[in-house]
Amino acid sequence: MDAIFLGQQSWAFHAGGTNILVDPVLSESFGTSEELQFRIYPYRRINLSAMPPPDAVVITNEHLDHFHLQSLMLLRPGTRILVGDLFPDVCRRAIEECGHVVQTLPDERPVKVKDLAVSLYRCAPASKFWEKRVCHAVISSIHLGSVIIQSDGLVSESLIRDARMGVLGDISLFIATNNAQVPPQGAAGTYENLLPLNAGRPPALGVDIFHEVLCAIPEQVGSIPHLAVCGGGYVQFPAKHGHFRWSDARALQRYLAPLSLAQMVHIPEPGQCLRLRRCGDEIECDVTQSHWVERLDTASSESFVHMESEWFQRSVFGEVSNSEIKDALEQALASLNFLAPILVSTPFGQGVAACHQYVGGPVGGIRFAVRLFNDSPSMMTSFGLDITDAKFFPLEMTEEEVLTSVPFGIDVHIADWNALNEGRLQIWELATARMRQWYMGMDPLFSPIAFFYCLFSEQVRPSLAARMYQHIRSSKLPGI
Ligand SMILES: [Fe+2]
Repeated sequence: MDAIFLGQQSWAFHAGGTNILVDPVLSESFGTSEELQFRIYPYRRINLSAMPPPDAVVITNEHLDHFHLQSLMLLRPGTRILVGDLFPDVCRRAIEECGHVVQTLPDERPVKVKDLAVSLYRCAPASKFWEKRVCHAVISSIHLGSVIIQSDGLVSESLIRDARMGVLGDISLFIATNNAQVPPQGAAGTYENLLPLNAGRPPALGVDIFHEVLCAIPEQVGSIPHLAVCGGGYVQFPAKHGHFRWSDARALQRYLAPLSLAQMVHIPEPGQCLRLRRCGDEIECDVTQSHWVERLDTASSESFVHMESEWFQRSVFGEVSNSEIKDALEQALASLNFLAPILVSTPFGQGVAACHQYVGGPVGGIRFAVRLFNDSPSMMTSFGLDITDAKFFPLEMTEEEVLTSVPFGIDVHIADWNALNEGRLQIWELATARMRQWYMGMDPLFSPIAFFYCLFSEQVRPSLAARMYQHIRSSKLPGI
């Protein structure tokens, strides 16, 4: 069986005459708009005319780097798309409207795809809220046992059980996710706190990744001859910063391979093929190059450095003109007031309500603020959430006063916020590219951005997702 790495978390599997794609991003970038693209890093191009047409495509979850509608639109209509039973209906409908056939796999039950079998396992319940619907994919063959693709969620008990009890046959390859996404030194991460609170976890260290791959996964799953790691393989345009730390495949391979005693560790680059074959009782793996994935020249990380201090200066969707600003602000206030009752009634909102002390002493009813910018950070309008009547009001304060008197808040550009609320931009794109936050406490999962990940998810706001998929289907985005 060949396991071909296509970049980020996309894979292709070939065995005999059977071809399966997992979470395919087939274009050079992913993203939902022309204005903001996430380019697969290291750069590569897929020659679609030479790619074997898939007998099935597995989608492990609905996130942008796994469920890439633009790539599914490139496949011949009627392609069989396999999803887990927690895959959102709005995403399923979007695939069907492309002319494909969606098949829901019962949890942990294999289905045949010609010579191979595919099964999906729900990830561990302890995964982050927005990753609870992620499935692990298992591709099984009679001769080579199973390849497990972890995808983003924590490894589930049932997968560990089935792997250890031999239900999946020999495990020939485990593909782990490096989801640390640690920005280069000095660049802002998604959960960064504008308050000097040393908030959040220390950034994941390379040694954490080493431990996860070399110790934690084999301890859980049992004997595995081959491990591969992927993830963190994209850069944004317009750029925020260069590639993530610990996403350099060659360096990781150099460090990890000699440290591993019990299994071979592979950190592939896009286009590399892990060719698994049985030699007696052993599973051997040769690393070859796919002929239909072309490596392109990749920009050096130095070329991104000047972006890192200025990333918030410009919006994704551009400046709102003077003649449109009044309407844009009214629209933004209306969307905030739609969210306000939800915000105050959730555990996050209740935590905000319980925060009675801030920098200058006791705080009043305004506990959460949104500072709306119009490209230049000096042009700012703020709205504060009064938790006593669950409504946002304009704040007559300077940028500094808002930050020092309201304990929780976000910074966002007006055009981008309105695009989010119109289904023209997805929350993950906005949060990773052009949103800042401040919050009390040390837990980044109890922060405005983490809360927005839940609030704007495909389940909670399916109408926004449906509009976005409609927009994608009716437009031809760059990179395709
Ligand atoms: Fe992912």
